[in-house]
Amino acid sequence: MSTETSALQFTVNATDHRMPPAERQRLLADPGFGRVFTDHMVRIDWNRARGWHNAEVLGYAPLQLDPAVTVLHYAQAVFEGLKAFRQEAGGIAVFRPDAHAARFRRSARRLALPELPESVFIEAIDRLMTIDGEWVPSAPEQSMYLRPFMFGSEVGLGVRPSSEVTFLLIGSPSGSYFPGGVKPVTVWLSEDFSRAAPGGTGAAKTGGNYAGGLLAQAQAAEQGCDQVVWLDSQEHRWVEEMGGMNLCFVFGSGRKARLMTPALTGTLLPGVTRDSLLTLARDLGYEAEEGKISTEEWRTGCADGSLTEVFACGTAAVITPVGAVKSAHGSWTVGDGKPGDISMRLRQSLVEIQRGLAPDPHGWLHRVAL
Ligand code: COI
Repeated sequence: MSTETSALQFTVNATDHRMPPAERQRLLADPGFGRVFTDHMVRIDWNRARGWHNAEVLGYAPLQLDPAVTVLHYAQAVFEGLKAFRQEAGGIAVFRPDAHAARFRRSARRLALPELPESVFIEAIDRLMTIDGEWVPSAPEQSMYLRPFMFGSEVGLGVRPSSEVTFLLIGSPSGSYFPGGVKPVTVWLSEDFSRAAPGGTGAAKTGGNYAGGLLAQAQAAEQGCDQVVWLDSQEHRWVEEMGGMNLCFVFGSGRKARLMTPALTGTLLPGVTRDSLLTLARDLGYEAEEGKISTEEWRTGCADGSLTEVFACGTAAVITPVGAVKSAHGSWTVGDGKPGDISMRLRQSLVEIQRGLAPDPHGWLHRVAL
């Protein structure tokens, strides 16, 4: 079956090997994160001569790649992570696919990859959710984690932008990102490693940023910590991110609480959850701003009680409280080490919008026509 669209013609080749419903239900009972995949995927090819072409919905299957394909050597690749939710009133909605499509384009530009039009990015999601909608789980903390990505697929070892690119979209019904759900993490302030430097790829969602972080994450684990916190690469003093998530600091409490998240200096990932929470915090009457915080200010703020809560935020885990901090120069607790009231209130507000349990005043939900 082929369907004409304004941008690109998608071909739908449904698989004959769908997972039997009983087996699907068994997997959805406890999917974990990023381990279970739906029956189909979307693939779109690009080359220099034809631009984007061959848009296809097809059965989820391993790829066959030439060993000399450029991404395996020079890592020219970008990805996104966004979620679809089963709605309280029925149907499926995707959270802010336009914001993710825009970031996907910016990441692609930084990696010298072609930009996928936003309408095609959203159509790919609509088509996958239409054919695999029954895979979207409904339990609290569960969602369909969508992973669009593209990579240089030209065969050749020359270092240059690939003249062939493959876009894929896969869907992974998922539960909590961190095993055990929402519980405070202990973080390690990394002074030996840097995630990103000015002029680098820190603002792009590209696998290399994550690969470069794994050793620091292992060092954090050796120190008995759950996650690494990245500091600026020049002074190792200014707080940037936690692992693959943005950070947010809460000063004061009650109605007078003020939120601050490190500003997007070019070395941080512009998180969609980060942006959504800045907006939601203001909706709830809190002051919320972008700023700068040093590790000394983090420590002294916790000691004198002015800094009351710290949380990490990202699509996968939504909000994760930071309960304790360790560094080569000392350790301290954030508040009483338990999830803070404001962190949990913001988390609940966001999740209620995502699931259709609360109004969506900013038009963040994109409904999939099933
Ligand atoms: C997210 O918080 O959504 C992330 O980016 C983490 C992801 C790489 C699993």
